[in-house]
Amino acid sequence: MSASSVSGIDLPDNIGNAMSYKDEKRKPDLYESEDVVKLDFQNINGTTIEDVQRLLVMHNQFEDFRKLMMEYECAISEVRTKLDVLNAEMSLRTDRNPFESIKVRLKSPISIYEKMERRGYPFTVESIRDNLHDIAGIRVVCSFIDDIYKLRDYLLGQDDVTLVEEKDYIANPKPNGYRSLHIIIEIPVFMVEGKVLRRVEVQFRTIAMDFWASLEHKLKYKKDIENAETIIEELAISADMVNQLDRRMQQIREKIDGNSLKEENG
Ligand code: GTP
Ligand code: MG
Repeated sequence: MSASSVSGIDLPDNIGNAMSYKDEKRKPDLYESEDVVKLDFQNINGTTIEDVQRLLVMHNQFEDFRKLMMEYECAISEVRTKLDVLNAEMSLRTDRNPFESIKVRLKSPISIYEKMERRGYPFTVESIRDNLHDIAGIRVVCSFIDDIYKLRDYLLGQDDVTLVEEKDYIANPKPNGYRSLHIIIEIPVFMVEGKVLRRVEVQFRTIAMDFWASLEHKLKYKKDIENAETIIEELAISADMVNQLDRRMQQIREKIDGNSLKEENG
């Protein structure tokens, strides 16, 4: 087998395959974050996926990088299982699913590289591990706001889960109207050689907030957009409507729940 060559530097055979395994085959798993957009044209700011690979090879860190990505993938599975268990138990008690859907994504190598560059960190495996908190991402989409906080509390109540950072954009929305609850947690992942602690970003949103964020996200990645000011304004107004809708829906559900309690007791 012949080694592939990028910009005159020879790469081992398995390199392209290892990277494309994550990039290409995992596409359906990615949520609509910047990664999806970037993966479609892997040449943002003149940086190619090959440049990223070459840098890692030059640091002799390619295998370590693959292992780190594997650990994050396992961390995603661990947290996903925790959420599935909570969903099963809570739905047994309340007769509804606390969340409607879960999307997971592993940040792509090119996005990792770009974020490290942007923040001015060295592109080494240790630095990636220590400085990036959102390589593993889980987005939990709930019907009701109160279920978001219940899920958060139950998850953080587990003794192998440590809260690293929390941003409550539901209580304190961003100026553009963005709402979601973000937590970064650290959990143990048990590998052959022992335990490693890995961080996972969990974003909780309602269906309506998710709908809004997907549309708003499109605005960020469109260049030379016409009427941008008007669109920003309309998005801000829609964000208020989303908020009102979420609160109304919860009030209606509480009334329905109250009625069915009366029925059970009467
Ligand atoms: P980054 O992780 O570099 O984005 O910075 P940060 O850690 O300060 O970000 P934050 O916790 O505020 O947001 C992290 C993620 O939340 C983003 O990658 C998006 O997925 C989502 N997000 C945050 N703000 C917005 C927003 O205004 N609109 C949309 N659509 N998504 C957002
Ligand atoms: Mg972040």
